[in-house]
Amino acid sequence: MNYPKSVESGAQMSCNCPVTQPGPTLASTCGGAPFMLFMGLLEVFLRSQCDLEDPCGRLEQSPLFPEYDFIIVGGGSAGAVVASRLSEIPEWRVLLVEAGLDEPTGTQVPSMFLNFLGSDIDWGYQTEAESEACLNENEQRCYWPRGKVLGGTSVLNGMMYIRGSRKDYDDWSKLGNEGWSYNEALPYFLKSEDNKQIDKVDRGYHSVGGLLTVSQFPYHPPLSRAIIKGGEELGFKSRDLNGEKHIGFSIAQTTNRNGSRLSTARAFLRPFKHRRNLQILLNTTVSRILINPSTKEAYGIEYLKNGGKEVIYATKEVIVSGGAVNSPQILILSGIGPADHLKEINVPLVQNLPGVGQNLHNHVAFFVNFNINDTNSAPLNWATAMEYLLFRDGLMSGTGISEVTAMINSKYANPSDDHPDLQFFFGGFLPTTTQISNSSSADS
Ligand SMILES: *[C@@H]1O[C@H](CO)[C@@H](O)[C@H](O)[C@H]1NC(C)=O
Ligand SMILES: *[C@@H]1O[C@H](CO)[C@@H](O)[C@H](O)[C@H]1NC(C)=O
Ligand SMILES: *[C@@H]1O[C@H](CO)[C@@H](O)[C@H](O)[C@H]1NC(C)=O
Repeated sequence: MNYPKSVESGAQMSCNCPVTQPGPTLASTCGGAPFMLFMGLLEVFLRSQCDLEDPCGRLEQSPLFPEYDFIIVGGGSAGAVVASRLSEIPEWRVLLVEAGLDEPTGTQVPSMFLNFLGSDIDWGYQTEAESEACLNENEQRCYWPRGKVLGGTSVLNGMMYIRGSRKDYDDWSKLGNEGWSYNEALPYFLKSEDNKQIDKVDRGYHSVGGLLTVSQFPYHPPLSRAIIKGGEELGFKSRDLNGEKHIGFSIAQTTNRNGSRLSTARAFLRPFKHRRNLQILLNTTVSRILINPSTKEAYGIEYLKNGGKEVIYATKEVIVSGGAVNSPQILILSGIGPADHLKEINVPLVQNLPGVGQNLHNHVAFFVNFNINDTNSAPLNWATAMEYLLFRDGLMSGTGISEVTAMINSKYANPSDDHPDLQFFFGGFLPTTTQISNSSSADS
C-alpha cells in the first residue's frame, strides 16, 4: 500500500486510547476485500485523533444510585438531548439507559455513513412482508435502519439538518398536542443551534451559541452544484429549507462540526461527561417500565444486563425515548397497548390504549437510478484520506451528493399552503466500499 510521507509526520498519535472496541471496526463494516487493508489502516489513523475517537473521552460510569429523579429509556437522537437538559438541574439525578454502546471509530467521518448500516450499531429491523413495497428485497420485507448506539440514529443517518415544515407542527398542535405549534417549537431549535453560516440562512430562524453545530459540509462535489443549477433552470430557488419558505432546492446544512459528524451524544452529552448527577448505562436493554397498577404511575424500570434482570427506581418520571419502533414496543411490554394484543402475548394489562403500535408511517420512497461517468470525482484513496485527517476537508468530510435535497409540490399538494409533499434525495459518488442499495434508505 502506497501512501504519502505525511502519514508518518502528520497524524498525531498522542492520545491514549483504551484498546476496547466500542463497536464494529471499519474493516469489519466493509464488505469489499480490496478495501479491507485500506480501511484497517485508516482506522488506526482515525483512532489517533481525539476529536474523532470517542473512547479517548469515554463517558464515565460511576456506581449507580439506588434511585433517580428521572430515568430515560433510550439514549438516541432524543434521549441524549433530554438527559443533557434535565441534568442541567444539579439537584436532579438522571439515569440514561442505552441498549447499544458508545460510537465506534469511523462513524464520525461523514463519507462513511453507509458503512455502518447493517452493522452491530444498527438494530437492523425488517418490516413484515409487504405486498406493494420493497418487492425487490429479501422476502419483500423493507429494511429499517435504526441506531443501536449512544446517539441512536443520529450516528447512522445522512446528517441533514431539516426541521420539517411549519404546517406539520401547526397541524400536530391542532390535533391537541399542546406546545407543538411551529412558533412554540422554534425557540427550542434556536436554543440548541450553533449555526456556523448564520449570514447564509434566513433571519429569525437560526441562532448561534447552542450545543448543536450546524453548517454545510466543508466540501461540495461539483455535481452538487450542478443539481442546484438544474433546479434553478426548472424555476426552483436554492434556499434555506428551514426558513421562510419550504419549497426549493438546497445544499443542506448538516449536523457536522469541522467536517466531523455531531451525533446528539457528541453534541449534548460529551461536554457534560463529568456531571455527577448524570449517569449512563450502556449495553443495557430495558425490558419494561414498572407501573403501579392502581395509581397507574411509573416508578422505575426493569432491565437486562449481563444476562440478568435488575430493577431501578424513579421518583419523578420515566421518559421513553426509544424511537418510533422501540418506544411502542416497551409500552406494550409494560402493559400499555391494545388489550387484545396484550392478552395474546400474555402481558398483564395496565392500560388499554388501542393506538400503541398502530398507524406507523414512513416516507414512501421511489428510486430512480442513473449512471453518470463523472471523471471529476476522486476515489477514496490515501490523498483524500490525508486531506481529511490533516484538514477535515475533501471528499471524506461530506456525504457526496447526498448533501443535496429538494422539496416540491406534486399535483396533489395545495399550492397556496407552502407545504410540499415531495422530497428529492440524491445519492452516490461516495467514497465508500458499500454499494447504495436500490430500495433502502437511512432517514436524513
Ligand atoms: C454487552 O453485554 C453482553 C451481554 O449482555 C456481553 O456479552 C458483552 O461483552 C457486553 N459488551 C461490552 C462491550 O461490555
Ligand atoms: C468515462 O469517461 C472517460 C473519459 O471520457 C472514458 O475514458 C471512459 O471510457 C468512460 N467510462 C465509461 C464506463 O463509459
Ligand atoms: C478543523 O480540523 C483541522 C484538523 O484537525 C484543524 O487543523 C482545524 O483548525 C479545525 N478547524 C476548526 C475551525 O476548528
